[in-house]
Amino acid sequence: MRSTFYITTAIFYANGPLHIGHCYESVLADSLARYHRARGARVHLLTGTDEHGMKIERKAAAAGRPPQAWVDEIAGAVRHVSDRLGISYDDFIRTSEPRHVTAVQAIFTRLWEQGDIYLDQYEGWYCHYDETFWPAGRVLPGDLCPQCSRPLEWTREPTYKFRLSKYASAIAALLVRPGFVVPESRCNEMLAFVRQGLDDIAVSRTTVAWGIPVPFDPAHTIYVWIDALSNYITALGYGTADSTLYRTFWPADLHVVGKDIARFHAVIWPALLLALGEPVPAGILGHGWLNVGGEKISKSRGNTVDPLPLIERYGVDAVRYYLLREMPFGPDGNYSEEGLVHRTNTDLANDLGNLLSRTTMMIDKFVRGVVPAPGAGDGVLEAATAQAVRAVEQHMERLQPADALAALFRLVSRANKYIEEQSPWSLAKKPAEAERLGGVPAGTQIRRGAPLFPRIQE
Ligand code: MSP
Repeated sequence: MRSTFYITTAIFYANGPLHIGHCYESVLADSLARYHRARGARVHLLTGTDEHGMKIERKAAAAGRPPQAWVDEIAGAVRHVSDRLGISYDDFIRTSEPRHVTAVQAIFTRLWEQGDIYLDQYEGWYCHYDETFWPAGRVLPGDLCPQCSRPLEWTREPTYKFRLSKYASAIAALLVRPGFVVPESRCNEMLAFVRQGLDDIAVSRTTVAWGIPVPFDPAHTIYVWIDALSNYITALGYGTADSTLYRTFWPADLHVVGKDIARFHAVIWPALLLALGEPVPAGILGHGWLNVGGEKISKSRGNTVDPLPLIERYGVDAVRYYLLREMPFGPDGNYSEEGLVHRTNTDLANDLGNLLSRTTMMIDKFVRGVVPAPGAGDGVLEAATAQAVRAVEQHMERLQPADALAALFRLVSRANKYIEEQSPWSLAKKPAEAERLGGVPAGTQIRRGAPLFPRIQE
């Protein structure tokens, strides 16, 4: 068992509110954090917002707002959704906070002083949307971005570069470490990419004003990935007078990120840490995307789903349950409101709700609302429960809450079936058998209330 567990979500771009896909990531990380807390570990769950860069600068300008005012508002909205979703985060980092800005500048200066960062020229294809330079070989016909299919711009400017190439073999060695990147299919993609060799990467821009200035050359702004990735350690006070949290929690046990940014986490991030002489994270979970109507969620397709009305209508437990239960491990999953309603009705209202209401009803009716002392039962439910607990542990250790929930709901079905087999309503009529009605902590006073998960009209 672990004594500490440090887990992070990606930091969300402050260019709009969170949609249901982002929420999946938060709920996934939160379920793992809660699991480890329940197991007694000291857990630190970090989430937050990624607030710099051209995309956000442009968004703020389009909204007629100064960038800081814009990101303040979006960060507030992201925090609000995280709270409504029940994300039990221990810290929420914003990359425009002084604690982050100062630490990133120190990291950049140190890498420059030790020769891992050098001044160069960059000329090439750049995607403003993804804030990524693309090698000519990856550019799609029509000079389009291989990731988002938007038009690329040919860019030429002085830039500081990070010597990523120097770390290629160290990264390849990391990638073969079991569990470093999961699922394995994603890890294999990374390995194939790294084995082609790694180029040094641009880490500053002179054409973006909204960001952290390079301290020794303020015409340059630190390019998003050094800024963004560092959040995982700046939030712990890395390099500051008080690095207690850093010493307690680093290296991270798990970075939970989507497949689109797994590469940055599995390649650039460990290289930066190796350059800083710091340990690398233990694991990176590159989850699939939650699509809507089989398509990637995007504003331009108009298929974004706002989680707040769903939480309002169906309750936070139903939304969380649906997200965790429906998403497969690795591949993309699909969201639909009908699916959410159906899952809620079948699993929560019918199976779990039925079990709860029958149990409380029987305690209320047969033993006047007081849970009797456990009787000498046949051990069937005890055995099924112990088996479910083992299965949940195994699945959660493998980062698969969907399977953990499936195991739990097998127990719920078994318990429902058990009640039918035992028909306690007939036992209650025979005083000699009354002892067998036990099985839950004795003396607990049970009151029946409204159903936890009322059925929803489908
Ligand atoms: N700011 C960067 C991450 C920097 S981490 C040092 C970023 N932000 S994002 O807002 O675009 O995405 C945040 C996270 O949400 C990413 O892990 C991304 O993969 C995830 N998702 C975005 N859309 C998603 C779905 N439709 N489904 C599941 N995850 C989704 O990337």
